[in-house]
Amino acid sequence: MENIASYITTHKDRFIQELVELLKIPSISADPAFAQDVLNTAEAVKSALDAAGCEVTEICETPGYPIVYGEKIIDPKLPTVLVYGHYDVQPPDPVDLWNSPPFEPVIKATDLHPEGAIFARGACDDKGQMYMHVKALEFMVKNNELPCNVKFMIEGEEEVGSESLGWFVEHNREKLANDVILISDTGMIAKDIPSITTGLRGLSYVEVEVVGPNRDLHSGLYGGAVANPINIMTKLIASLHDENNHITVPGFYDKVIELSVEERAEMAKAPFNLENYKKALDIEDVYGEKGYSTNERNSIRPTLDVNGIWGGYTGEGAKTVIASKAYAKISMRLVPDQDWKEITQLFKAHFESIAPKGTRVTVKPHHGGFPYVTPMDSLGYAAASKAYEATFGKTPIPQRSGGSIPIVSLFEKELKSKTILMGFGLDSDAIHSPNEHFGLWNYLKGIETIPYFYRYFTELSNSES
Ligand code: BES
Ligand code: MN
Ligand code: MN
Repeated sequence: MENIASYITTHKDRFIQELVELLKIPSISADPAFAQDVLNTAEAVKSALDAAGCEVTEICETPGYPIVYGEKIIDPKLPTVLVYGHYDVQPPDPVDLWNSPPFEPVIKATDLHPEGAIFARGACDDKGQMYMHVKALEFMVKNNELPCNVKFMIEGEEEVGSESLGWFVEHNREKLANDVILISDTGMIAKDIPSITTGLRGLSYVEVEVVGPNRDLHSGLYGGAVANPINIMTKLIASLHDENNHITVPGFYDKVIELSVEERAEMAKAPFNLENYKKALDIEDVYGEKGYSTNERNSIRPTLDVNGIWGGYTGEGAKTVIASKAYAKISMRLVPDQDWKEITQLFKAHFESIAPKGTRVTVKPHHGGFPYVTPMDSLGYAAASKAYEATFGKTPIPQRSGGSIPIVSLFEKELKSKTILMGFGLDSDAIHSPNEHFGLWNYLKGIETIPYFYRYFTELSNSES
C-alpha cells in the first residue's frame, strides 16, 4: 500500500486543519453548560464520516448524548471492522495552567515532538485518535483500498461513564455485528516503540461524606470535644492502605488474578527507564505496593486513590471552624477478575463500618466498569502486529495499560468480539491535564498504520475460512 504515504504527504495540511476545527468545539460532557457544543460536535463527526465515504451515517439519539454511527458495507460476506471512539472531552480545568486556551488549538514543537504537536483539550483523548480512523477511511475509499466492511460508533459520554452507550449496544446488537472492534484511545510506549494495549483496568468511582455536628462550630469552643469530620475523613482514608501499601478493604483482593512468574518476567522486558520516569515527574522516588515494580503497580495491580477532598474553610486567610461535613471522591482501579459492583459494595460496607460514633458516614457509588484483557493469539492481534511492522519496521510490544475504557468489556459480552487497542498517544501528551497535546507525527503515523490493519485482518480472515 505504497500510496498511503504519498496520500498523507499530499493531504496532511488538510488533515491537520480539519482536526483543529473539531478541537475548537468544547464538547465537555461533564458540564451541562456545554450541552449544545457536545451536540454540535456529534454533527461535525457525522459530516466528517459522510465526507470520508460512509454510505450510511446517523445521529442516534439516546437518553444522554447521541452516538454517531456510520457504515460502509461493501459485501456482507466480507469481515466487518467496528471502530469505536469518543468525541467528548474532559473539562479543561485548571484553565490558568494552560499556556494557550484549551479550545483554541495551536501547533508548537516540543522536545519529543520536533515536528510539532497540536495543543488543545481532546487533541489526543480522543478527538485526534478517533479522527485518524476517519482519515484512514477516506484514504481507503478514495483509493479503492477498503478491503472489508466498516462500521463507526463514536460516542459522547466516554468521559462520564458511557451510560448511554451501554444502553445503545444492548439495543442494537444486530446493527453493530462485527468481527473485530478497533479502538485508538490508548497510548504507545514511545515514538520508536510501537505497542498494542492488551489490557485495561476496571474502575469503581465513589463519593464519600462524613457528617459530624449539625452545624459548623467555633473550633475553640467545641474543638477537642466533638468529632471533626475532616480529621475523621483523613483518618479513615489513611487507614485504607497498610504499611505495605496494600488496600485494607476486606475481600478487595479475593478475585485478583496474580500473574505467573513467566508473565511477570515477560512484562519486565518492556523498555522502561525508572530514572527518566522520576525525572519527568520531578519526584525523588516512586511509591506504591510492596513487592511490585512500577509498571506492575500501574497496570496489573488494583489501586485506590483519592481524587478530590474538601470541606471546611479554604478561602483567604484563617477562619477557626470545625466544619459539619467533609467530602472526598475516591477511585479504585480494578484488574481481572474483580467485579466493580462487588468492589463498590465491599468498599461501602467497610468505609461505613469504620465510622466512629459521633459521625455519620455515607458512600455514594458513581460509576464503574470491568477490566479487560485481550488475547494475543487472535486474528485481530496478528493483523495489528503486522500493520505496525509495515509502518514502523518493528514488532509491537504488548502492554497492559492502567487506564480504563469501561465499555470495552461490555462490547465483548454483548457483541461477542475481541477489541484491538491500537493507541498512538504518549504518556507525556498530558491527557486530562493542562496543555494536552498530540504529536503531528503520531497523528499521521496512525493514519498510515490503520489501513494496513484492514488489509491484514481481511487477508488473515479469508485464509482462515
Ligand atoms: N482514553 C482514556 C483511557 C486510557 C488512556 C486508557 C490512556 C489507556 C491509556 C479514557 O478516555 C479515559 O480517560 N477513561 C477514564 C475512565 C472513564 C470512565 C472516565 C479513566 O481511565 O480515568
Ligand atoms: Mn479516551
Ligand atoms: Mn479520557
